[in-house]
Amino acid sequence: MFSKLFGFLRGKGVIVQGVDKLPEGFAKVIDIGDPLAGGKQVVLCRVGGKLYAVDRLCPHEGGRMAEGPLADKQHVVCPLHNYRFDPKTGSAVGVACKAATTYTVEMRGNDCEIFV
Ligand code: FES
Repeated sequence: MFSKLFGFLRGKGVIVQGVDKLPEGFAKVIDIGDPLAGGKQVVLCRVGGKLYAVDRLCPHEGGRMAEGPLADKQHVVCPLHNYRFDPKTGSAVGVACKAATTYTVEMRGNDCEIFV
């Protein structure tokens, strides 16, 4: 009941199909909408068997988070200055930097729903 009642706080849900194929310790870039028309890119990460979503835009100086293997199988990396971010919280690891934006992810069978 509360999830329906406060669902508007989570943002708009977007279904991403086939996420069950994303291996543990890997990240994949997901395009949500047209980037030229207000869309965004999200990095979907699998850590500890769960999925987490981080905005691809790095909070440091606007680089783009990388897809592929996660650093130490748990941190998403921005290759511009090699900062690492915890996809669970968005917080920077080992450096003083603003946290990356994270989004709620809910599994839907072999698919997931990201609330952006
Ligand atoms: S812009 Fe991402 S680490 Fe510097």
